[in-house]
Amino acid sequence: MATMTKTARGPQIRQTQCFIGGNWVPAASGKTFETINPATEEVITQVAEGDAEDVDRAVKAARQAFEKGPWAKMDARDRGRLMFKLADLIEEDIDELAQLETLDNGKPIRESRHGDLPLTIDCLRYYAGYADKIHGQTIPIRGNYFCYTRREPVGVAGQIIPWNFPMLMTAWKWGPALAAGCTIVMKPAEQTPLTCLRMARLAQKAGIPDGVINVIPGYGPTAGASIVKHPGVDKVAFTGEHRTAQIIMRDASETLKRLTFELGGKSPNIIFDDADLDAAAVGTHVGLYLNQGQCCCAGSRVFVQEKVHDKFIDKLVSMNKARKVGDPFDPATEQGPQVDKAQFDKIMHYVGLGKSEGAKCLTGGVRSGDRGYFIEPTLFADVKDTMSIATDEIFGPVLSVLKFKDIDEVAQRGNNTFYGLAAAVWTRDIGKAHRLANQLRAGTVWVNCYDVFDAAAPFGGFKMSGIGRELGEEGLKNYTESKTVTVALDK
Ligand code: NAI
Ligand code: MG
Repeated sequence: MATMTKTARGPQIRQTQCFIGGNWVPAASGKTFETINPATEEVITQVAEGDAEDVDRAVKAARQAFEKGPWAKMDARDRGRLMFKLADLIEEDIDELAQLETLDNGKPIRESRHGDLPLTIDCLRYYAGYADKIHGQTIPIRGNYFCYTRREPVGVAGQIIPWNFPMLMTAWKWGPALAAGCTIVMKPAEQTPLTCLRMARLAQKAGIPDGVINVIPGYGPTAGASIVKHPGVDKVAFTGEHRTAQIIMRDASETLKRLTFELGGKSPNIIFDDADLDAAAVGTHVGLYLNQGQCCCAGSRVFVQEKVHDKFIDKLVSMNKARKVGDPFDPATEQGPQVDKAQFDKIMHYVGLGKSEGAKCLTGGVRSGDRGYFIEPTLFADVKDTMSIATDEIFGPVLSVLKFKDIDEVAQRGNNTFYGLAAAVWTRDIGKAHRLANQLRAGTVWVNCYDVFDAAAPFGGFKMSGIGRELGEEGLKNYTESKTVTVALDK
């Protein structure tokens, strides 16, 4: 494994406090928590630990900005201009922000610099362009009336995000909310608060008025739950585990908040014997191991048709052996550490279950090095549908290969999960591809590709993988209320 010395040169840490009404303030309790560099297990810095009182102050600032401030009066096109400006400022600092993301999260610098950051900027620009294109309809109702709808901002949006794509998830949440004219109280994940806080600083620098964006770092059951329960919050957008979403749904029921959820998955990735196997192998490898396997849409159930099964596994095994695991600041590194000890332990627990339940571990299955939360890329063959590694979201670099015979069987087995986030099909037969794309109960189906994301294309889950869609025009709707106005005309 490469040495970690480069991380010592990391980016400057500037923002570690709560951001409320345009001010950087310590938590009301004075408490802080540590954020860790997962590559070295060393503490990066202390961050303000927000709780109910801080959330209450943030909600008041957000309500004030929504109802009275310059944001409330601003022309939509000017709102868009400020968002473009924020995207420009992020682009100016792209190298440092990528380093900060890598430091806090552990993801390889080549991914943060060439994946997360460009997608973040692109998402903000996409929605910036929408700010002045959100409009209602005129409706020809019976009688002598003029009837029209307005799409108005839903109000104060509470936004709670996970640690796997900290900046990108911030952009997915802020983009549509700001375009619609909402104000925001955000809680970044406790594992990775730093880039969201830096983005708040850049938003202020861009001229987004005070109180429009508020960020409260802290833990889920305290700061997070306070956002969900606060009567001054109109809507909650959450990305994370489905069990957390169940708690949020209960907590939000008191105030009947609008809820959108983007949750986990156990996505089937289906390889037919007529596929371009080299392309499928690369797509399968990336589709699972990207971001250390910490992707909600990871293709974690790889179904391979029996005729090409052994040959395909050989390709996957040789890619795993060549995969470069190590210092995430080394530009050649393909895989960094898992985000924290809890995730590392969870993954290793599932590796143990895979072995004890009878799957064949062909690569990995062990820790890499003796410092940091690194795990060797792991591949299980002979996996049966009922094994824990085939049913549960592992959220780590653990790929399971299952064998199948024909299309009807694989459609049924692919859908045999309470998740429904993504799926992929690899075949040269266009009819078969479309047939399966229709049959698979998933919010996204990739055909002969994987992990192709675009700010314009809606993303989200069927079944317990979520409610609502993010990105695209659909993502905007989550942040608007429709109002019908009916005007009596002269007789
Ligand atoms: P989590 O769902 O607990 O955390 C996500 C966010 O929700 C964090 O900001 C957290 O502080 C907050 N949160 C936690 N409890 C809350 C509550 N009661 N009220 C309001 N907010 C709350 O996910 P966690 O614990 O980080 O990871 C556990 C597992 O969840 C992972 O192993 C993975 O399987 C899955 N996961 C899925 C993600 C996805 O993108 N779909 C992202 C992160 C985790
Ligand atoms: Mg949790």
